[in-house]
Order: sequence, then C-alpha cells, then structure tokens
Amino acid sequence: MRLLLTTSQGIEDLASAEIRSLLDRIGIPFQVEERPLGVEGRVLAEVGEAFYTDEKGRRRRMSIPTYLNERSRLLHRVILEIASERFEDIGNEEPEAALKRIGDFVSGLPLEMHVKVSESFAVRSFRKGEHKITSVDVAKTVGKAIFDRLSCFGTPKVNLDHPAVIFRAELIGDIFFLGIDTTGDSSLHKRPWRVYDHPAHLKASIANALIELANPDGGPFIDPFCGSGTIPIELALRGYPGRVICLEKYGKHLRGAEMNALAAGVHEGIEFILGDATRLSEYVDRVDFAVSNLPYGLKIGRKSMMPKLYSEFFMELAKVLEKRGVFITTEKRAIETALEENGFKIKHHRLIGHGGLMVHTYVIG
Ligand SMILES: C[S@@+](CC[C@H](N)C(=O)[O-])C[C@H]1O[C@@H](n2cnc3c(N)ncnc32)[C@H](O)[C@@H]1O
Repeated sequence: MRLLLTTSQGIEDLASAEIRSLLDRIGIPFQVEERPLGVEGRVLAEVGEAFYTDEKGRRRRMSIPTYLNERSRLLHRVILEIASERFEDIGNEEPEAALKRIGDFVSGLPLEMHVKVSESFAVRSFRKGEHKITSVDVAKTVGKAIFDRLSCFGTPKVNLDHPAVIFRAELIGDIFFLGIDTTGDSSLHKRPWRVYDHPAHLKASIANALIELANPDGGPFIDPFCGSGTIPIELALRGYPGRVICLEKYGKHLRGAEMNALAAGVHEGIEFILGDATRLSEYVDRVDFAVSNLPYGLKIGRKSMMPKLYSEFFMELAKVLEKRGVFITTEKRAIETALEENGFKIKHHRLIGHGGLMVHTYVIG
C-alpha cells in the first residue's frame, strides 16, 4: 500500500521521522520518501501489511491509515495513493487540452479496485503552481472521469456534502496525483480541542515540529507568547513530565488558551501566566526550553514595533534560558539582530510554510 502523507512545507524530514517511528512500533516493513516527485509538504510511505490479535484471539488486519490518522502529530492528511503522474508542460496548455489529459488519465485507472461502486463519492481538489485551469475545473473533470469509469460496473452515486469516499486530486506544478483521502474533510492539524480560535494561531503540526526541534528533556518549558496555547497544549498532550508554562500578555487570549487546554484535558498540566514577555525574568527564574511563534506585526504600524519588542524579549530570555529556544517569525532582520545583541548562537535555521508564507525558524542555544 502506498500512502501519500501531507504536512507543512519545510517539516517533511520531521514528519517522516515521526512516521518511521510509528511504523517501527508495529513492526511492519516500510519505506518512506520525503518530497516524492519533488513535491514539498509531502511524504510517501510504502507499507506492508500489519496484523493484530483481537480480544477473542482472532488475527485481524490492521488499518495503517487509521493508525496514522489517530497517532500522528505532524501530518495533515493520510491519502491512499491510486496514481501519480507527471504531465509535462501542463501549465502552458489551454484549459480544454489540460483537462482532457487529466480526464483521460483518470478514466483509464482501475478505480473499481479501490472503491465499491455502491458507495457515494466526492472529489476534493488542490492545485498549486501556474496553470490555465482552476482547482474547481480539476475537481469537475476528475469527478466526471470517476463517474464514467464506475458506471461500467454499476450506478455510481455522487454526494458532495457527505460522501462515503473522498477522492483527492492534486495538481502541483506538473505533478498530478489521485488518491482516497482517509482523513476526511477536516485536516488533522485542526485539532478537536480548539474551542478558542486565536486570529494568528499556529498549526498544531508546526507546533509539534517546533517541539521536535527543541527536543525538550523534561526540564521547565515556556511559550512566552502563547496566544491560544497551541504549543504548551500539544506538549502536554505528549505527556511531558516537566513544568509547562503558557505566558500571554492579553487576558482574552490567555482565557482562550485555558479553554483550549480544558477541552484537550491538559489544563492541570500547564501553568497559565498573564504577563509581558519583555519582563520574563519577573515570572520565571529559569527555564530550560522556550518555544514560540513570535508576534509578526503584519498589521501596518505594528511592524515598526517588532525590533524593540524582540530586542527587549531576547534580553530577558538571556537571563533565564538554560538550554534551547525555538522561534518562528517572518521578522528575519528583527530576530537576527536581537539574537546577536544578546549573545545567542543560531544553531539551526529553516523555512516553514505557514499561512501562505515561508516563515523563518531558528533553534538557538
Ligand atoms: C503569533 S501569536 C501566538 C499564537 C499562538 N502560538 C497560538 O497558536 O495561538 C503571538 C501572541 O503574542 C502575544 N503578545 C504580544 N506581545 C506580547 C508580550 N509583550 N508578552 C506576551 N505576549 C505577547 C499576542 O497577544 C499573541 O497572542
């Protein structure tokens, strides 16, 4: 079975390490490839069969997609691959020709081997890159091709709102991909615990990537700009044995973080502090790990405040941080200046796709 796993751009290596560790745990043969066909934000896992013994001692086949959907912290979707194809130069083709190519390809696939004709289906599409066609065009064309193909085997049913089977069709540059989306309509990064929606919240998958980069060992951990609490909550959900602190300047967001933590069942495990990160040493004497997505100041007027805020914050952080910090921000100049001014060394830098931007991520020590 080939599974196309989706995640954020720039964290494919961390997602693939998580998948390897999850698959190792159940002892099945597998191969994992980051960015298959050069597509970012994707990991391909080729997995063998796995079995378990149920309560009556019967040997049962284990569903690997279900296992990954339930356990992964870094993935967005688990898609059963039906076919992947490179359509050279499709970006320059006129809509009619491009859609005919996609339609012909899909109707030639043995789709009847992947779904029961009696099950209702819908196609969800995703398109990225320069094309003369839209994602809606792709969905309609693929939907018609699937319908036509399945019509040879019975009477297919389309149900756009509540389908039993979701086909996912992606056109990314010149790569076309078709699969069955086992995750459903809601991406895994949209956690069920999020009852308070912060306007600039971090995706839970990225929060976990930052936690992986920090690699905390049980020592005191703080998110000094914790907003709705994504990072502390995800850390607490991993059963972190040490202190987890969520510091936030605005009461509305801190109350939201507490509501989220309650919904996640980890409120007890997190200390919530209403306070200003530029006065960090007033709230904590020492932390081993600090992980945060810093305020970006995307709004006009606020951007000019970032260098001062960063400079004051890192001056305070230098007083209390013992081991590692991981910070994500669009403000490259402001953070690099503040880090240098306060004697922090950049141990690792990478770009991560977040909210349509490639955002700078720093591991410091
Ligand atoms: C990018 S958001 C963090 C979002 C958070 N990671 C989440 O997923 O909800 C930055 C947060 O920093 C807070 N903030 C801004 N200035 C602050 C300061 N001086 N001290 C503490 N928090 C501050 C903002 O209110 C905002 O909630």
